[in-house]
Amino acid sequence: MRIVHLSDVHVEVPASEVKLRDLLGRRFAGWVNLHFGPRKKHFVGAGERLEHALRHARALAPDFGIVSGDLTAIGVREEFARARALLAPIVEDASRWLVIAGNHDRYTVPAEREGLYEQFFGAWRRADVALPGRTTPYLRFAGDLPLVVVETCEANRFFWDSRGCVEAEELAALRELLQHEALRGRPYWLVTHYAPYGPGGKPDHGLHGLKNLDGLLEVLRPQRPQLWLHGHIHWSYALLQGEAEFATANAGSATHHARPSLHVYERDPQGWTLRSYDPSGEALVERWSRRLEPR
Ligand SMILES: [Fe+2]
Ligand SMILES: [Fe+2]
Repeated sequence: MRIVHLSDVHVEVPASEVKLRDLLGRRFAGWVNLHFGPRKKHFVGAGERLEHALRHARALAPDFGIVSGDLTAIGVREEFARARALLAPIVEDASRWLVIAGNHDRYTVPAEREGLYEQFFGAWRRADVALPGRTTPYLRFAGDLPLVVVETCEANRFFWDSRGCVEAEELAALRELLQHEALRGRPYWLVTHYAPYGPGGKPDHGLHGLKNLDGLLEVLRPQRPQLWLHGHIHWSYALLQGEAEFATANAGSATHHARPSLHVYERDPQGWTLRSYDPSGEALVERWSRRLEPR
């Protein structure tokens, strides 16, 4: 089985294509940062890098693919439409791709209320098992591998606040989902947008991390995921046995100017091999390879 994982493509559109009324409030600060601030250099030329990354993702012919959020830069309709059009060739088979939302896709309260992510990518959010009346968390199967998806993004009021949250009732639902008969006793992988740890293995707290990370870890402890996939931090890394309490793999950003990345996970009888590639050129260039042995 081969799984391709990419994240944080942050598709943007020229300023002239964004409606002025959509730039009010928090988005305005984000837009200034994108076009005039530090973010400008991180994502300049991102369109070309994304085309290469998507071509490689497709050529790898994965059994399953995951995009772990931040499809857009400031979460406006025009960016969603462009992201949908660009991703269409690889994610066309919604039964074999999972596309979740990142904090940039729920950038403002109106965007969240309007449900832009759901409108453009709802088909790739398909749940194989969900609890009655709940949209998150849910269970999705990548072949025979269960993926537990926890949505951790909500609109924040202030520009400098990039935190995510898993509400108390979502934690209770996660506890219940982990007991579901479809999962019982089976190794599973967790998928979130937010990162539990930075590249050095320290918890990602502060204004960039999950507000109640400790609560989430507590719910997961009795039945740990074999691997926790995420994005949000624009570095590709994996923290495996002995490096952090939970084994994690961060696909980083497929379009970041200095460190574009794409992950491939391949299963063999002994476990999994995790590989990180630079997908931004004509050829895929391997950056690192790690083994994930079953516990
Ligand atoms: Fe991001
Ligand atoms: Fe993010």
